This record gives sequence, structure tokens and C-alpha cells, in this order.
Amino acid sequence: MKDIKNVLIMGGGMMGSNIAYVVASVKEFQITVYDKFPVDLEAKIRTNTKQLVDKGIETEAALAEKLSRIHFTQDVDDEGIKNADLVIEAVFEDINVKQETFALLEEKCREDCIFCTNSSVMSPSWISEKLKYRTRFVGTHFWNPGHLIPLVEVVKTDATSDEVADTVMEFMRRIGKSPCLCKKDVPGFIANRMQHALWREAISIVENGIASAEDVDTAVKTSFGLRLPYLPPLLNSDMVGTQLTYNIHSTVLEAIEDSHKPSPLLKDMIDKGQMGFRAEPDANGKRVGFGAYTDEEIADINAGLNEYLIKMLYNK
Ligand SMILES: NC(=O)c1ccc[n+]([C@@H]2O[C@H](COP(=O)([O-])OP(=O)(O)OC[C@H]3O[C@@H](n4cnc5c(N)ncnc54)[C@H](O)[C@@H]3O)[C@@H](O)[C@H]2O)c1
Repeated sequence: MKDIKNVLIMGGGMMGSNIAYVVASVKEFQITVYDKFPVDLEAKIRTNTKQLVDKGIETEAALAEKLSRIHFTQDVDDEGIKNADLVIEAVFEDINVKQETFALLEEKCREDCIFCTNSSVMSPSWISEKLKYRTRFVGTHFWNPGHLIPLVEVVKTDATSDEVADTVMEFMRRIGKSPCLCKKDVPGFIANRMQHALWREAISIVENGIASAEDVDTAVKTSFGLRLPYLPPLLNSDMVGTQLTYNIHSTVLEAIEDSHKPSPLLKDMIDKGQMGFRAEPDANGKRVGFGAYTDEEIADINAGLNEYLIKMLYNK
């Protein structure tokens, strides 16, 4: 298996800065972050990881040591690009920007350098379609916040070699992630397919007047959502027995939502400006979506997510 030492991150934005920090958890790795625009990477990483330091999960000394191995550049001829063993691309979610980035990398990097894209929704086969060497290209979908969520979906394209997929899976384990191999390049990869099957049903229940939006979310939070990290769907299916799963599906599947288009309710909400946290405030100063929120409530919900994840992951 290929020996990885020099890791290049393309794009020092929200995902790239977090990925650089996570990669730096392995002391043997030297990390270069390239961005087309100036980025104060150290400030960004310090802000992202402040809660970890405050709670004593990351020490100041360990953070400083990691930062000392992360080098930022805007120079396409930087040694960190020339010597990269593995690249993780996290530039804008735009096919032209991504394809231009990999065309540049193909010109500047060694032929045996592994190419990874962090695109959330674009097909890695599409992003890599114009490249000369496609067997070395793979999707690596980190989830946000990248320094906390353990999953990375490693997505094989129609051309990715098994050796490259194995190397990237091993690399992700080394940096402390929980990689899952997506053997086919399909929309939504593994986790978003399941997540959005749930969202589709949640929206459909509201749309069909079966329950309120508030009750839909409460039902998730107080039942299967509570036990999901312990009892995921297929383990749960085994626990109750596949015969019971079969029987339930024989009744329920024909009743639940199977539309292949976004819900008309969503379109209607968008047309009315009900964009959730991104809506303009209404007459009561609330931003409306399925619920209605003051700016204070929005700030609390946003800040609470990392707090919740840290509690779940580190018990702190
Ligand atoms: N934000 C998320 O929740 C999330 C989650 C998973 C995956 N992703 C994916 O990660 C990628 C990056 O997302 P983000 O949220 O970090 O975006 P971002 O806008 O925060 O960062 C993108 C960075 O890329 C830089 N950039 C743009 N063009 C460039 C170029 N040609 N060369 C080098 N750098 C360039 C920008 O200056 C910026 O710093 C996207 O593909 C996105 O789909 C995002």
C-alpha cells in the first residue's frame, strides 16, 4: 500500500481548514493548504477548535504542534504541491472550478499522487472525467463539521482502482475517521440517500396533514432518533428479526411517500419566502420555515450543535 507523508488540501475554506486540522492528528503528516485567495488558516483553525480547547479535549501545546505542520500557500509551484502523496480537494462546489483544479493538479503533482474530492453532491466520476489518470481518483465526502463528524464516505468512481480505494480507507482510519466505502458512484452516496429518504417522508407527513412539523421532529427525537447511534437500521432489523421487517414493509411501504420530485410544499414555502433560518424576518421578527425563530434562537441552535456533538463524542 502506498506510503503517505505529504498531504495537500486544495481550498482553505470551512471544510478545507477542518480537514487540515484532522489530517494533522497524525504526526508523520506534513500538510500544505493551497487556496487561490488569502486565508488566515491559523485563525480559522483556532476558531473552529476553540470548544475542543476550552473543554480540554485538545491542549494548546498539541494544537500548536499540529499548526506547525500545516503550511499555507497561494503558490501553484509550492513544494507541497509537487511532493504531494495525496490531495483532498475542497474548493467551491462548482464543476468548472473543480475540473480546473484537478487539471492543474495533474500538471503539477506526481503521477502516483492520489486525488480525492470532497464534493458533497457532485459525482466524482463527472469531476474526474477529463483527467488522464483516473484510477487514482476517488471521492472523500467529509461531513460538516469536519473536525467532529467521524464519517467520511470514500466513493469509488467507474475507474478508481481497488488499491487506491483501500489506501484512502486506511488513510481515513489513521486520521481517526470512520470511513465507509461507497462502491458505486450514486447520487447522495450512502448517508444522504438515507437522510433524505427520511426528510422526504417528514415533509410528506406535514403536507398530508398527518401531523404538525413540531410533532414530526419530536417523534424523531424521542423515539428512533434517540437510539439510532446505538441501534442503526440494519442492526435493528436483525434485532427484531428480518421476518418482522418484511411484514412491516408489506403494510407500510405502499403507504409512504415515493415521489421522485421535491415536495410541492417545499416549493410553496420557498415562493412565500419561508426559507427557514435564511428567511427574511417577518412582522414579529421571526424567520419562518417549518418553525419560526428569533435570531437569538437561531444562534442558540447553531452553537448548540457542536456542544451536542462534543458531548456525544467525548462525553465533555
Ligand atoms: N459546507 C459543508 O457543509 C460541506 C460538507 C461536506 C462537503 N462540502 C464540500 O466541500 C467543498 C468546500 O466547501 P466549503 O463549505 O469548505 O466551501 P468554502 O466556500 O468555505 O471554501 C472553499 C474554498 O475554496 C477556495 N477556492 C475557490 N476556488 C479555488 C481554486 N480554484 N483553487 C483553490 N482554492 C479555491 C476558496 O477561496 C475557499 O477558501 C465543496 O465541494 C462542498 O460541497 C461542504
